[in-house]
Amino acid sequence: MQQPLLILNWKMNPETLKEAKVLKTETQKQAKKIKGNVVLVPPAIFLSELAKGAEGIAYAAQNIHEEVGGSHTGDISTKQAKSVGARYALIGHAERRALDDTDERVQKKVAAAITAGLQAIICIGEKVRDENGTYLDVVRSQLREAVASVTKQKLKQVIIAYEPVWAIGKEKPMSTHEMHEMSIFIRKVLSELYGKQGMSVPVLYGGSIEADSAVHMMREGDVQGLLVGRASVDVEKLRALLKALQSI
Ligand code: PGA
Repeated sequence: MQQPLLILNWKMNPETLKEAKVLKTETQKQAKKIKGNVVLVPPAIFLSELAKGAEGIAYAAQNIHEEVGGSHTGDISTKQAKSVGARYALIGHAERRALDDTDERVQKKVAAAITAGLQAIICIGEKVRDENGTYLDVVRSQLREAVASVTKQKLKQVIIAYEPVWAIGKEKPMSTHEMHEMSIFIRKVLSELYGKQGMSVPVLYGGSIEADSAVHMMREGDVQGLLVGRASVDVEKLRALLKALQSI
C-alpha cells in the first residue's frame, strides 16, 4: 500500500494562536511516527507562524484567490501563501463552494495554484446521492471543470479530494465500498482526459474520518490518503488517528 497522504483541515479552529501552536506540536510529534506525509491546513492567519520550523509536516492554505494581487479584501494570493511556507492549497472545499466557489472559479484557482508551483488539492463531491446516478454526473462535471486548464505536464501538481457533502461533519463516513467505486470512477474520468497518466493522480477521501474509519478507508477504499476535519483539532482524536495510521 502507498504511504498515506493525510490532510488535516483545521477550518476556523482553534480559537487562539497559542492553542494552534500546541496542536501543531502534537501533530508534529505524532506525524513522525507514521510513514505517510502529513499536511496541516490551518487558518490563514496562523499559517506564517506555524510554518516556521515545520520539520516533518507540510502546510496548505485553506483557500486562495485566483488573482495575483489587487483589491480583494480578506483574501490571500498563492504567492503570499507560498511565501510563508505553504506548499499546497485546498481548492473548492464544500464550505467554499457553498459561498462563492463556482466551478469556473475553482478552475481559475487551480490554474493560479499550479502557476505558483503549489500542489492543488481539489475538493469535489456531490451534495446528495440519488438512486439514478445523477451524482456521478455532478462529480464528473466538477472534476472536468476543475482540471480544464491543467496540462499533462502539470498533472503531478494535482491531488483530488473526494468529499461527499452529505458525509462531511456527520457521525460516520461513507462506506469503503462506495469510496472504492468512486475512486475507480474518478480515475476513469481522469484517464479519459490524460490517458494513462490520469491514473496516477492521488485520490483522497474526506468526510467524518476518525481513527478506525481511517484505517478501513486506507485499506479498502482504494484511496491514497484522507482529508480530516474535526478529528484533526481534537487532541485525543488526532492522537488516536495518527496512532491508528502507524499500522498501515
Ligand atoms: P469532517 O470534515 O472530518 O469534520 O467531516 C471534513 C472536511 O470538511 O474536510
